[in-house]
Amino acid sequence: MLKHQELIDKMSLTEKIRITSGKDNWRTEEFPRLGIPKITLSDGPHGLRHQEEEQDHLGINESNPATCFPPACLSAASFDEELLYEMGRAIGIEALNDHVEVVLGPGVNIKRNPLCGRNFEYFSEDPYLAAELSTAWIKGLQSVGVGASLKHFALNNQEKNRMKSNSIVDRKAMYDIYLKAFERPVKEGRPYTVMCSYNLVDGVYASENTVLLKDILRDRFGFEGVIVSDWAAMNDKTASMKAGLDLEMPGGADYFDDELEENIRSKRLDEGILDQAVDRILELIIKTARDKHVSEPADTFSIGKHHVLAKKIALESVILLKNEDHILPLRKKEHGTIFVVGALAEKPRFQGAGSSHIIPYRLTSLLDALKEKGVEYTYFEGYSLETGHKPDRFSEDILKAIGKDDTVVFAAGLPDEYESEGFDREHMRLPDEQNELLERIARISSNIIVLLYGGAPVELPWIDRVRGLINLYLPGQAGGEAAADILFGEACPSGKLPETYPLRYNDHVTSEIYGRENYEVGYREGIYVGYRYFDKAKKEVLYPFGYGLSYTSFGYDDLSLSHDRLSREGKGEILISLRIRNTGNVAGKETVQLYVGKTESDGYMTVKDLKGFKKVSLEPGEEKEVMMKLKREDFLQYDLSSGKEMIYEGEYDILIGSSSRDIRLKGTVYISGEPYIKVPVPEFYSRPSGKPSLEDFETLIGKKMPSRISEKPFTVDNTLFEMSEVPQMKIVIRKLSNMLMEASGIKSRNDSAYKVIHAMFMQTPIKRLTLVSPDKMPKYMGEVLVHIANGEFLKAAARTRAKK
Ligand code: BGC
Repeated sequence: MLKHQELIDKMSLTEKIRITSGKDNWRTEEFPRLGIPKITLSDGPHGLRHQEEEQDHLGINESNPATCFPPACLSAASFDEELLYEMGRAIGIEALNDHVEVVLGPGVNIKRNPLCGRNFEYFSEDPYLAAELSTAWIKGLQSVGVGASLKHFALNNQEKNRMKSNSIVDRKAMYDIYLKAFERPVKEGRPYTVMCSYNLVDGVYASENTVLLKDILRDRFGFEGVIVSDWAAMNDKTASMKAGLDLEMPGGADYFDDELEENIRSKRLDEGILDQAVDRILELIIKTARDKHVSEPADTFSIGKHHVLAKKIALESVILLKNEDHILPLRKKEHGTIFVVGALAEKPRFQGAGSSHIIPYRLTSLLDALKEKGVEYTYFEGYSLETGHKPDRFSEDILKAIGKDDTVVFAAGLPDEYESEGFDREHMRLPDEQNELLERIARISSNIIVLLYGGAPVELPWIDRVRGLINLYLPGQAGGEAAADILFGEACPSGKLPETYPLRYNDHVTSEIYGRENYEVGYREGIYVGYRYFDKAKKEVLYPFGYGLSYTSFGYDDLSLSHDRLSREGKGEILISLRIRNTGNVAGKETVQLYVGKTESDGYMTVKDLKGFKKVSLEPGEEKEVMMKLKREDFLQYDLSSGKEMIYEGEYDILIGSSSRDIRLKGTVYISGEPYIKVPVPEFYSRPSGKPSLEDFETLIGKKMPSRISEKPFTVDNTLFEMSEVPQMKIVIRKLSNMLMEASGIKSRNDSAYKVIHAMFMQTPIKRLTLVSPDKMPKYMGEVLVHIANGEFLKAAARTRAKK
């Protein structure tokens, strides 16, 4: 019996179908006759992007102002679940205030490679960290009765051709890395909705992938809420419904609905499946309407309070990466005039481009914050944030002004157009002009502190020539204040890197393959993602996962484990305790990290995995006991030969560290379980060095990588990108791009907002373009484009000419 059977019985087949696709970009259908209201879904995840009027889903049109909290790339560095809970709750309160029922976030996709254009929206290369923090965020948001939408399920780890790329991964990597990031948020966070991704997985669109949606998400993880399509991710609604998807977004195009109705009438789709989806959608509508009345009233929301929270989160997350001879914190009086160089100090990058782009209530730059503090500084713009716009004489003026003993705060970072939703970065470098200017200043001054902005790691060729490095990632609307407080020691840095900083891009295990494939994307590195690769390959890195300095220091002592064995029987757990002491002169916070690895980790297995962390606040000289817990299930890992998760019997290292490469305390436990039977895998997977070959990967997955079949003649499943080599389409695309630019009101093709819509426009299959185009381009228009691409129009024109 369905929860809302009575209501469903009152709905006609057409009404039931209508409720499974939205009313427009952001709202579900409403049925006043039945007392079913509409609900609104709006983007997040680091603030609310709620649009009332002009609609788009890519951050181009205005949205209501909201608090811009630090995006996940930075907030993850807080290693602090309570803060993420607070952020989720604050966004929930803003959502209530704007009458939004579901916020589209958090994003927990794994950072497989630093160049993914959307890494800024994701938490980590590590699934445990991503899962813990997102669970807290979801609980915070939903504590006020606003639903979350955990996204993008699954294996969406590149922006390139994101609508048609096919992620192929071995089962162990799929379970231990990529799905792990979703498991706990689903099971414990209990998000009201989960959003499927655009890409295909193993040859099947995620939006209609039964293995992903039904077998894993519903059956294995027990998800009972609404599965919503990413915006225009739907390809075949009947197939999607069969796989367990409930809600198609955006709505308004009714592209699939006639066909769906026909399929139900002709019994190709069981009406019971539709009823089940309708039931879940009704439950979402009723639940969000009901819960928001019992939660904190929206009028307790204060912009000021949320700005303070945005600053607090930034302060707790900013990472001090280098502090040679304690150049930091700066002391106002001792440093005389400070030179601040770099356009980002004035126009900070504080969030990324695309659907998560919001209009902040307030924004403080570093310069604003320094002024506010009464710090004397001389500012030089130094470089331009716009491509191809060389600032005249900038560097010469700076070089003349700066003296040998002067302190230089250099704001470096990625301009907006470098990284965004919709496309990936082309390389891991900062713009050349920034690197060059920094090198030139370094020839004069040896007191350079770099403030780094950007959603993902960059190569730092000048790192040995600067004394201080603070990574702000994208710090949200209060980033300037946070940076100034850290610079001047009004706050002590405590962020830890949620991802590895390699020495150079080429050291990355996927550097030779990432972004090269348009279609068939083999995750050749398997489980060796992020620090798991660098650890197993024993490769040097610039800054390891979990790394971050403080203005004080910490001593670790007295590790004790409640058990040295965990038997198979019972639900045993190990309590881990240790003592931590602030051994410096200022108050500070340290994130104690717990890693676990099988002592004998030969074979296709990681050396260690993060399994716990605790952030501890300590006054100078203060000592505290830290307690953590390991349960039996924390030792589970996917076993390739049996095709299920198991616990391998044997000894495990319990490692307590200040980073993944700074292990301070070590213990061991013996865990009873299944015998580990080594699966024969290519050498790379048991002793990684260099990069895995295609043959290695094919042996691992036990099949050949598919190759792309010919796509001609073109159909509505093709994209404009795929048609772009056809001469007549070059003209059509140019014309349409011009129209797009005009319609969006954007002046330059280098503008990141334009790049996002253009990427979306080129990469969306023609039939789905009708779903996202502002005026819901009629179906036949898509067919016209296909005819043109196939040369049918030209042939017809030639025939007409011949007749004349
Ligand atoms: C993005 C989602 C977003 C949705 C709605 C999509 O393009 O991938 O993350 O929630 O648009 O804006």
